[in-house]
Amino acid sequence: MSERKRMSPERFEAELARHRQLSFAGVDPRGRPLVRVFDVVHHQGRIYMHGAPRGEKLALLGRPLVAHAHRVVAEIPSHFTDPRRACPATTFYASVQVEGQFSTVDALERKAEVLSQLVGGRQATGSFVAMDPAHPEFARLYAKVIDALWVGEFEISARHGRFNFGQHKSAAVAEAILEGLWTRGAAGDIEAIGEILEAHPQRLAPSWSRGPEGTRLCVNLDRRRTEASARLLEGAYWRPNYDLEMLAGVQVAASAWVGLETPEGELVGTARAVSDGVDYAYIGDVMVAEPWRGRGLGKALTRGLLDHPRLRSVRHQFLVTRDAMELYAPLGFDTLGRLGTRTWMRRRPASVESPR
Ligand SMILES: CC(C)(COP(=O)(O)OP(=O)(O)OC[C@H]1O[C@@H](n2cnc3c(N)ncnc32)[C@H](O)[C@@H]1OP(=O)(O)O)[C@@H](O)C(=O)NCCC(=O)NCCS
Repeated sequence: MSERKRMSPERFEAELARHRQLSFAGVDPRGRPLVRVFDVVHHQGRIYMHGAPRGEKLALLGRPLVAHAHRVVAEIPSHFTDPRRACPATTFYASVQVEGQFSTVDALERKAEVLSQLVGGRQATGSFVAMDPAHPEFARLYAKVIDALWVGEFEISARHGRFNFGQHKSAAVAEAILEGLWTRGAAGDIEAIGEILEAHPQRLAPSWSRGPEGTRLCVNLDRRRTEASARLLEGAYWRPNYDLEMLAGVQVAASAWVGLETPEGELVGTARAVSDGVDYAYIGDVMVAEPWRGRGLGKALTRGLLDHPRLRSVRHQFLVTRDAMELYAPLGFDTLGRLGTRTWMRRRPASVESPR
């Protein structure tokens, strides 16, 4: 295996944990190859699954198995990096493989513990009685069902992870790919941009990401940025009485989000929009950290948002502001009118044709 594509142990564990289904393959005692897909849960360094206590999968018990999961991050066409040749086309991916063996979990308490991890993690909403043997209703609600289920434990004996996010490509080629992804803006491309930037050994700076004062436009909203964005917006005049959780939720629900980060990785600007992707977009939560204001960040941030693939061809782009009209007017926003203390503004991108 190419060393440059091998995953570090940390990357491997994070990648494996993303997968809630794994394909297990082995050979049954009669020599026939068999593949089964299971819903899995990763718990205490092992993998658990469940099913009916019958069927072909049981023929795999105690036999050497391999489990595999593959994730396509982005398909990269050749024209991103070469105007003529078709051959640089590639797929960025992350692939994990584990080897090991199944055994059956027999003890009711252990089965309940594993199943509650397996089922609980897939049901974030709604309420149900915990699968806890100490719960007074456990015996009535669960004991029989759990007893009748097969719960498998997969002990891992070997781990292999392989990924291609362009980490071994030159900075110039990787930046050309980032330009291509931003221009294309297909489903998953924004997330791919984040993964490529994070994986590359050099600090990449595609043209669209270069902001004032050494800042960079970031476009994928990971957990750290969600929290930082919520903190920036705390106390904004248009968001009275919003706590950090609500502010974070609003960012995550956006159709498009952009931020500006300092070279040290501090988020100093945030902006977002909700949109139907064709006719209407509403831009909001534009905020630059106070010490960074007046240096062009607000303009760069808004420009970056307007150029976002999910926004750039939306016909009517609206916003409401109390006093920042001079920020938005040079970016193409016209004043529609005032409502109380707020001014409504609208932009219609020149490049987008009106519907007939
Ligand atoms: C509004 C805000 C995002 C602007 O960010 P910024 O980094 O200071 O803006 P920039 O330095 O890019 O300024 C760009 C232009 O907009 C103008 N501008 C920015 N904020 C303005 C405001 N509140 N009122 C009037 N003009 C403003 C600037 O004068 C500048 O004009 P210039 O290019 O002619 O010099 C920032 O001040 C902020 O976060 N304010 C608090 C939150 C807020 O009001 N958000 C907007 C809600 S609609």
